[in-house]
Amino acid sequence: MDEGDSKSNSSARPIPTQRASSSQRILARHWQESIRYHGLPRYLRELSGAAKDAMLELLPSRRKARFGDLDYDWEHSVDTTRSNVGFGTQLLAGLTGRPYFASEPWIFAEIMQALPVDFSQFTFVDLGSGKGRALLMASDYPFQRIMGVEFMPALHRAAQKNIRSYSNERQQCRHIEAVCMDARDFQFPDGPLVVYLFNPFSEATFARVLENLSGTVEQAPRPVYIAYRFTEFENLLARANWLEKIAGTQQWAVYGNRAVIARDRRNRA
Ligand SMILES: C[S@@+](CC[C@H](N)C(=O)[O-])C[C@H]1O[C@@H](n2cnc3c(N)ncnc32)[C@H](O)[C@@H]1O
Repeated sequence: MDEGDSKSNSSARPIPTQRASSSQRILARHWQESIRYHGLPRYLRELSGAAKDAMLELLPSRRKARFGDLDYDWEHSVDTTRSNVGFGTQLLAGLTGRPYFASEPWIFAEIMQALPVDFSQFTFVDLGSGKGRALLMASDYPFQRIMGVEFMPALHRAAQKNIRSYSNERQQCRHIEAVCMDARDFQFPDGPLVVYLFNPFSEATFARVLENLSGTVEQAPRPVYIAYRFTEFENLLARANWLEKIAGTQQWAVYGNRAVIARDRRNRA
């Protein structure tokens, strides 16, 4: 069983793994929920598309492209590249959500710039944190706390190692925690949140995670921003009437909770 990891300068405690993931459990749950959400025919189309994509990744031309994300790792002596992620891990991630890709540093920086927040008041949560690159990049900003949620044990273990070995003089937050669990079961922490998503989920999973998030915000109202990189299912955010888009490009979108945005507007007026 994998354990949560923590690198902290003060009060961080390791978070126990809640319902550690196993391949069978991940697949079975995904099948059930996707069939319920889409119906069997569409689910089967999605499944065959994901299997085909995974096979295409084996082509020599694609294999070469996988090494295009290595600059960040060389610069920071970490291992966040997708080039060495095993075929089985990528296949399972692809069949149940989206395969592992690491966030591009320049796009991440654009997104951070678009957030109208005092970082020190916010917890950064990366849902589908993979090998942890977004967690490391977020730690160069003065977030109060950083959390990553990843359900593939091999990727989670790599993230734990990266959190321990990351060293950068620009690092401003050392309170970083990684947990190995399904994002659908994750309980969001209290306080203001920046929720980062690099296209981790199928539509059915994304809908479920959004439902959870809106439920917690309803229970405990607070500022929440969703930073969505690769906007495949942005329609789900656009449809959610508790959210409002505040920034975006073709590659990413940032939404915030409408009530807080309206309050901030009133305060500025
Ligand atoms: C595109 S990668 C993003 C990695 C990382 N966030 C980054 O930006 O560098 C998406 C990740 O989401 C993970 N994932 C997909 N569905 C998930 C779920 N239900 N719970 C937790 N992780 C999930 C995948 O295993 C994969 O590692």
